[in-house]
Amino acid sequence: MTAALAVDGLSVVYDGYYALDAVSIDVDRGESFGLVGESGSGKSTLLRAVGGLAPVSGGVIRIDGEALKGSKRNKAFYRQVQMVFQDPYGSLHPRQTIDRLLLEPLAIHGIGDSDARIARALDEVGLGSGFRFRYPHQLSGGQRQRVAIARALIVEPSILLLDEPTSALDASVQAEVLNLLEQVRRDRHLTFVMVSHDLGVVTHMCERLVVMQNGAIVERLSAKELATGDVKEDYTRNLMIASRGFVRN
Ligand SMILES: Nc1ncnc2c1ncn2[C@@H]1O[C@H](COP(=O)(O)OP(=O)(O)O)[C@@H](O)[C@H]1O
Ligand SMILES: [Mg+2]
Repeated sequence: MTAALAVDGLSVVYDGYYALDAVSIDVDRGESFGLVGESGSGKSTLLRAVGGLAPVSGGVIRIDGEALKGSKRNKAFYRQVQMVFQDPYGSLHPRQTIDRLLLEPLAIHGIGDSDARIARALDEVGLGSGFRFRYPHQLSGGQRQRVAIARALIVEPSILLLDEPTSALDASVQAEVLNLLEQVRRDRHLTFVMVSHDLGVVTHMCERLVVMQNGAIVERLSAKELATGDVKEDYTRNLMIASRGFVRN
């Protein structure tokens, strides 16, 4: 089976510093794939490089077997691959209503039937149409992240790149948003690549994961291996200890 997303020997270099050093991953269609590792290990850089937001200096990125050229991404790419970031404040324009925020991607991609699509998108993320003409500051953090997810889903992508999508949220809200993500992945047969510093989240959400350090992969694991502590590297074991709420007796 052709991987939905294949990253082969990918490097990102900033002023001689390898933020990403020859990283390779293969993500199957419909799979949820995790990236974990200490702060600064290159997790966001990997997602950003795929999304065309970081300069690639070596390696190949393939979507459904087709190699992307350079760092530029065309419209067709963003129809297929969408990103959700940690901070829903930063990614939602403060002066636009939710309606406008959801209309924009539809306009960019020339997708019609916008009224019905916006209503359906808000419904899908558990926000009724009552939210449609509100502004981001009138929403809670969890509701804003639901809007960010709705905005990503409204163009009907097949791959979501999720960079700490719930890290800014309270624990209870975090669980709700993770459940929402899991549900839309199943309903829409989406492929996820998800960054989290919370190993509990990754074991819950992902089938496989890589552990990153200094821009490189130090270990590849199944969620089960992580959950049962069946890991080889001390670095991974230390991450497990550092990850809040993960270590069980
Ligand atoms: N635009 C940039 N310019 C220079 N260095 C960067 C840039 N983006 C990231 N880096 C560096 O690359 C490394 C990896 O960063 P990042 O991918 O954000 O780590 P993580 O998401 O795992 O915390 C860090 O050392 C960071 O400082
Ligand atoms: Mg990051």
